[in-house]
Amino acid sequence: MDAPVLKTALPGPKAAALIARDNKHVSPSYTRHHPLVIAGGSGAVVEDVDGNLFLDCAAGIAVNSTGISHPDVVKAIVDQAQRFLHMSGTDFYYEPQVKLAEEMADIVPISGEVKSFFGNSGTEAVEAAVKLAKYHTRRFGIIAFLGSFHGRTMGSLSLTSSKTTQRRGFGPLLPGVYHAPYATCYRCPVGLMPETCQAECLGFVEEQTLVHLVSPDEVAAVVVEAIQGEGGYLVPPAQFHQRLRALTKKHGILLVADEVQSGMGRTGKMFAMEHFGVEPDIIATAKGIASGMPLGVCSARAEVMNWPPGAHASTFGGNPVSCAAAIATIKLLRDSLVKNAAEVGAHLLAGARELMSKHQIIGDVRGKGLMIGIEFVKDRTTKERAVAARDAVAQACFYKGLLVLGAGKNAIRLSPSLVISKAQADRALGILDEAIGEVAARR
Ligand SMILES: Cc1ncc(COP(=O)(O)O)c(C=O)c1O
Repeated sequence: MDAPVLKTALPGPKAAALIARDNKHVSPSYTRHHPLVIAGGSGAVVEDVDGNLFLDCAAGIAVNSTGISHPDVVKAIVDQAQRFLHMSGTDFYYEPQVKLAEEMADIVPISGEVKSFFGNSGTEAVEAAVKLAKYHTRRFGIIAFLGSFHGRTMGSLSLTSSKTTQRRGFGPLLPGVYHAPYATCYRCPVGLMPETCQAECLGFVEEQTLVHLVSPDEVAAVVVEAIQGEGGYLVPPAQFHQRLRALTKKHGILLVADEVQSGMGRTGKMFAMEHFGVEPDIIATAKGIASGMPLGVCSARAEVMNWPPGAHASTFGGNPVSCAAAIATIKLLRDSLVKNAAEVGAHLLAGARELMSKHQIIGDVRGKGLMIGIEFVKDRTTKERAVAARDAVAQACFYKGLLVLGAGKNAIRLSPSLVISKAQADRALGILDEAIGEVAARR
């Protein structure tokens, strides 16, 4: 499919009609930024109900790792659905769950024996990680990072600190959660340069949190995104994760890597933590793991996952159809897609960096593989955030047939399916160039 091809004004009549029905009966809590109503698609191309074709650099919030409906994944789903839909891994056994646990043990960057717990979403994977860390250590404290997103159920939400709207009206949240600054190098919280710093931002945890607020021997886990996703696609320097690993080891604190968004090949390695040479104790995975089928996995060193029967479970978690989809997805990732993410991702990143030389409103371009953030500023010296310009660029892209989402206060994220080609990446860059040019000219 060649895209974009726009046949109607947006939204087209069928899309507008469905959106009107949605407005009447669907929860208003969702954050729809574009009036897109999908009918189908292929690879990195989405077709809407009016026959418009969009180039997709959003991938259902970084979920459609193998594209819209990869035939191998669809076949695995159909084959499994024809055998049985459900048997609850809580009470019975089935091969797809065991096979997926074996696959996870093989791919996660944790050495030695690994065990996995299955849920249905990213937030459940994080909830499981937090509960496991508390259970295993018999400590209550959790350290998380400002700007992070870990999910919206009450436990994960207590860690999430991406936007106040996500927390507002739901407090008080879980006690014993302490937030610290993330390595936001473009806006370094301690005013240093990433090339020469030793992740001094972690001094806050070492000298403030663990001195004034909670004793290290009461901290169960540090939960950290390998690359901060919703917070703005922020790539920390390797020393940030390495120092955190050393600090957690020193105090017997478990290191939980939230790889819900950065995992499953998106960054050009199976897990983003591999870029930093760090082995966590627990990893939370979801989003791209099953190409769009609901699945969240919490994988841990076998010795850490020592909770007894009944301590944690889920009726639907690790559903056999989702597990089959995940097994097919992992095969595709291993065979070619992680490599494609690295190659096309490097190409896209280089192209996005070239846009910086043309457009002063781009303050920073960062990323790994196909997880790329473009941050918009009013002025490169003051770095004042250009929130309205970011929103306008995302909207202009949509009306030109390119799907992109925002991340953080003033960045756009490029998180296409891992099947995207270099030609499609070039097309996306061309549209971005036009959209940014138009928005900059309006200022
Ligand atoms: C890093 C990270 N963790 C957890 C979650 C929560 O995942 P879910 O929406 O599937 O619950 C997200 C979702 O965006 C995420 O990006």
